Amino acid sequence: MKHLLKLLDWSAEEITGVLDLADSLKADNKAGRPHPLLQGKTLGMIFEKSSTRTRVSFETGMYQLGGHALFLSSRDLQIGRGEPVQDTARVLSRYLDGIMIRTFAQQEVEDLARYGSIPIVNGLTDFCHPCQVLADLQTVREHKGHIAGLNMCYIGDGNNMANSLIVGFLKLGAHVSIACPEAYQPDAQVLAFTEQYPGMFRMTDKPMEAAEGADVIFTDVWASMGQEGEKAIREQAFRGYQVNAALLKVAHEGCMVQHCLPAHRGEEITDEVFEAHADEIFDEAENRLHAQKAVLVKCMGN
Ligand code: CP
Ligand code: NVA
Repeated sequence: MKHLLKLLDWSAEEITGVLDLADSLKADNKAGRPHPLLQGKTLGMIFEKSSTRTRVSFETGMYQLGGHALFLSSRDLQIGRGEPVQDTARVLSRYLDGIMIRTFAQQEVEDLARYGSIPIVNGLTDFCHPCQVLADLQTVREHKGHIAGLNMCYIGDGNNMANSLIVGFLKLGAHVSIACPEAYQPDAQVLAFTEQYPGMFRMTDKPMEAAEGADVIFTDVWASMGQEGEKAIREQAFRGYQVNAALLKVAHEGCMVQHCLPAHRGEEITDEVFEAHADEIFDEAENRLHAQKAVLVKCMGN
């Protein structure tokens, strides 16, 4: 049985296979060709945090694949009142064909997979955001024609997005360069993983250094969901970690800008840069639908 708990678990071949399938599902979608690959299947979607893109793209994606999706808010589930994840996993496995979960602790997602008997897809944890980064890889490949050999740069918090971007882009052969304040570096497990790619990974606290020669620049919010109480202190720590016109000057000509959204204009990205790259950013948002349908088919298909 195939899960998507984190990109660290998937090989480069599996990631590329899903991107190829995502491209072909996107073509079907654009041409209006039916593709009922998950006919009669039901996905449960557990949300312990807010979502616009993830919720709507998974629900629509299941519908387009001939299946059905159930929105399960932890505010209404018994899990929100303390029913153990081991029990929830075993109960839901008797009803559903797969679960997508957005939550805080990565361990909860791993536990669902351990105790349940159906595929589990990670829709974001504090540790990683693998579905988003599959869409990101699809978008960059679409615009640049390839991933291997590109210079990918990430500016900002060493958070769930940074963790997944580093793993996904290194696995597919890109050079990865990140700039973050010393106190906000990516997860230690991810930094240990980068050691398998000597000469391909750079980390600095200077955004200009990281952006030099970039083919694509990513950023994300300074305070993630669950960190609202740290907003003021983070605004101080991340001042200067902004994707703006000056930063883009040191990048390669034609450098793409990507943002998983939601964006905080005036903080991690200027309104000017956001709007100049809006087409690429909304292609990225659209590709959540296509990339996730590919993940669902890979994990839940026959
Ligand atoms: N990028 C992303 O995951 O968006 P949502 O939080 O709206 O799902
Ligand atoms: N790092 C952000 C990503 C949102 C899609 C968060 O976790 O809130």
